[in-house]
Amino acid sequence: MGEPVLLSASILSADFARLGGAIREAESAGVDWIHIDVMDGQFVPNITMGPVVVQACQRSTGLPLDVHLMIEEPIRFLPEFQRAGADSITVHAEACTHLHRTLQAIRDLGCSAGVALNPATPASIVAEVLDLVDLVLVMSVNPGFAGQTFLASSLTRIGQVRNLLDHAGSQAHLQVDGGLTAETAPGVIEAGANVLAAASAIFMHPDGVGAGVRALRQGVGQRVSN
Ligand code: DX5
Ligand code: ZN
Repeated sequence: MGEPVLLSASILSADFARLGGAIREAESAGVDWIHIDVMDGQFVPNITMGPVVVQACQRSTGLPLDVHLMIEEPIRFLPEFQRAGADSITVHAEACTHLHRTLQAIRDLGCSAGVALNPATPASIVAEVLDLVDLVLVMSVNPGFAGQTFLASSLTRIGQVRNLLDHAGSQAHLQVDGGLTAETAPGVIEAGANVLAAASAIFMHPDGVGAGVRALRQGVGQRVSN
């Protein structure tokens, strides 16, 4: 409690025709990280972006780049994402034959290592890799698309991961991703998360990016300056 909530703005809902501008708008609105959703059409039923887009993001902002890999066997592409400018790389437990080795490889590249769990993956898997993770991402939708409805069952799973981290004395971030709005975010923070990844609530807010960021911050009881 009292720990600042970090906002990671997922560019998946940004206007790709003016990506740099959208990222700068999010930065001015006070987001903490830029979340980049990489999808391969195999692990998830959608194809999005790769290292060249991470590079383009790096040219547009000084904010940390939070790269969420929704791809099969991500160990094959880690150096490319690190060279492109990723600060943290999150891989899915379900997509790695050798999760332990993959997380170690991320750290060996000098990036923060994250592990993501789909809604049907038991939280307990995190216990096996706790010493190798800087971030745990609990998916609150089935990954693949922005704009889906938050799964309420995620709250229990967030609480389970929070307990695991606390019992181990881990300082790892607990990120939640999918369906976050000013209405769903408070419960997620109460359950123990400290990082919110949001696409639609920020980039599709009817009153603009600034209003989206303010609404999320106010929702979780953070002060906003304007
Ligand atoms: C979903 C992605 C999310 C997505 C979130 O597979 O990992 O990061 O962009 O989108 P919203 O916030 O619109 O649910
Ligand atoms: Zn994501």
